[in-house]
Amino acid sequence: MQVVELSAFGLDMLKLFDREKPAAGPGEVLVRFEAASVNPRDYQIITGHFTPNVQFPLVPLSDGAGIVEAVGDGVSRVSIGDRVTPTFFPEWISGEALNAERAVSSGLETPGTLREYGVYQESAVVRVAPHLSAVEAACLPCAGLTAWTALVTMSQITQGNTVLLQGTGGVALAGLSLSKALGAQVIVLSSSNDKLERARELGADHCINYTTTTDWGPRAYEIAGHGVDAVLEIGGTGTLENSLTAIRHGGHVNIIGYMTGVDMDITVFPLIIKNAQLHGIGTGNRDAYEAMMKFVGEHEIRPVISETFSMNETATALETLARGGHMGKITITI
Ligand SMILES: NC(=O)c1ccc[n+]([C@@H]2O[C@H](COP(=O)([O-])OP(=O)(O)OC[C@H]3O[C@@H](n4cnc5c(N)ncnc54)[C@H](OP(=O)(O)O)[C@@H]3O)[C@@H](O)[C@H]2O)c1
Repeated sequence: MQVVELSAFGLDMLKLFDREKPAAGPGEVLVRFEAASVNPRDYQIITGHFTPNVQFPLVPLSDGAGIVEAVGDGVSRVSIGDRVTPTFFPEWISGEALNAERAVSSGLETPGTLREYGVYQESAVVRVAPHLSAVEAACLPCAGLTAWTALVTMSQITQGNTVLLQGTGGVALAGLSLSKALGAQVIVLSSSNDKLERARELGADHCINYTTTTDWGPRAYEIAGHGVDAVLEIGGTGTLENSLTAIRHGGHVNIIGYMTGVDMDITVFPLIIKNAQLHGIGTGNRDAYEAMMKFVGEHEIRPVISETFSMNETATALETLARGGHMGKITITI
């Protein structure tokens, strides 16, 4: 089978190899991958900016989708021919994670999806909603679930709520389609008026250019009436202060990304005065992912795909992600 392996840090260290096809043992399933997608974490892992603790060679990328080609003895959750995606944390099934349940993630501590075949515990794959193509399904394990965990598990977003989304990337646009299907009104921030125009076509109710309206927090508070119910906090250092201004009393700030940095001084008073609810989001568990997939199926939600590359073009796909001109997800066919 064909597999892309990383032999040392650097995009130029990604090479295509021919390896023996694996076989499913008891309780395991063999997945034939058709598609993968890239996330900022993958870029950071590959270039050595996520952690120094990488065991080479590494099969990169956390997210992919494919077909169950074989099952081992005792498998009952899925059958041959089912379309599935592996989960981001293969051992985190439900509830709050114990340390051990989050110790293993796809494309870092265990091989990722940039290969023709992978073997997984049956508990670590989820059936794909029928309307989704393989590249669409490959967008969901990280970005889709992260948005779902923030909106549904943590913020309990419902009809009539207001959600603020930072940017127009994979997580934010997953957040846009999920929020609209949940019945919320949505405010989208972007650096680009063209992207905001497209976000409006995708259902955004209000758009703010964060480069021209740098104090967008009060503006979002005003649009929502008395503050937004939830923020998907993507920026980190450069955005958290505005997010805390934007929320209502008891509103939720879901801390997801760090596009503008990780360190900052913070004053506790706005948090206290507003009874703010700050949640660190680490993707999510399998049960939440299954619930999300059911919801995605019921509402026929399709991830927004910016560009699709071939397996040979993985480095270009990652460079394209890092440049930041995209909207939604960048995917790879396998
Ligand atoms: N915690 C988790 O479980 C988890 C899961 C997935 C991702 N993440 C993190 O979340 C972040 C986004 O991931 P992604 O997959 O959506 O990445 P992406 O597709 O590359 O999108 C990044 C987005 O960040 C936006 N952005 C950059 N600076 C901003 C600012 N100052 N204010 C508002 N928006 C800003 C950009 O908006 P415009 O281009 O529209 O200006 C862009 O759309 C990354 O830091 C990633 O590492 C965390």
